[in-house]
Amino acid sequence: MQNYLKPEDDLLTTRSAGEWAAIKLDYLVRYINVFETAMRGKWSIRNYIDLMAGPGKNRIRETDAVLLGSPLLALTTKYAFTGYFFADLSDENTTALDKRCSASPFYDRVHIHPGDCNEIVREIVVQLKRDDRNSLNLAFLDPEGFELEWQTIAQLATIRRIDLIINYPQGGLNRQMALSFQSNEETIVDRFFGDTEWRKIFAKHHGKENFVHRQLMDHYKQKLQRLGYPDVRRDDETGDEPLIRNSKNAPLYRLLFASKSKLGNDFWQKITRRDVSGQTRLF
Ligand SMILES: C[S@@+](CC[C@H](N)C(=O)[O-])C[C@H]1O[C@@H](n2cnc3c(N)ncnc32)[C@H](O)[C@@H]1O
Repeated sequence: MQNYLKPEDDLLTTRSAGEWAAIKLDYLVRYINVFETAMRGKWSIRNYIDLMAGPGKNRIRETDAVLLGSPLLALTTKYAFTGYFFADLSDENTTALDKRCSASPFYDRVHIHPGDCNEIVREIVVQLKRDDRNSLNLAFLDPEGFELEWQTIAQLATIRRIDLIINYPQGGLNRQMALSFQSNEETIVDRFFGDTEWRKIFAKHHGKENFVHRQLMDHYKQKLQRLGYPDVRRDDETGDEPLIRNSKNAPLYRLLFASKSKLGNDFWQKITRRDVSGQTRLF
């Protein structure tokens, strides 16, 4: 129990992850730090929402090191959020996460929802809407593949102030799009984008990897714009979506960000200008 909140083995379930998980989590932690430092004096209610939370700890395959996962990083941040909403499809994960969270002085702020986040999101949104006028919210959506449906994003976006950090599965899309494109049924890619517009983009630009993803992410962002998020697309090649690669340098995913406030967008631009090593980011 003493080490439930530390990046150490505690004999509970861990999630097996590649070294690159640390890069993704570094962006999240830096955003949380800026968000909490700047906003805790302005908003008395600040919620962190993590709909694919995992068990709370990752074991890095290459080194056997144990890293805190996103929910525990948010729970142990310098300035705590006032509410935590976690979900995961796996009961084993939510049970381990609950045990770990129970070691926190902020355990009474934690709500854990076992099950499919694409369904559970409704109940969480109802709870968050009780404080809609007075709260600031940050959601981290971190699927393994295509489990995150667009309708879940659309539900979250009905909350007045909610920043979104979304794992955009570039590598998974590279593998899946050709197959889904051939299907006449609704596919996981259709549900991820929330429509079939991606098929037109894919048909026109496939083969030009960076370009096709720029177009697809812009399409996703345009849809976010229709839900109340301002258009913050940048026309340089780097964009605001850091690309995370595996050890063979193959693209895995990008982190796509959306905030309804200019300040949120400025914070994200500031932290994504540099990568985990403090270097100016090239992609
Ligand atoms: C990439 S992992 C999350 C890792 C976590 N962010 C961390 O930093 O440790 C994705 C998680 O989503 C969960 N998951 C998959 N499909 C889901 C769904 N439909 N609803 C909720 N959770 C789901 C998996 O069980 C897995 O734990």
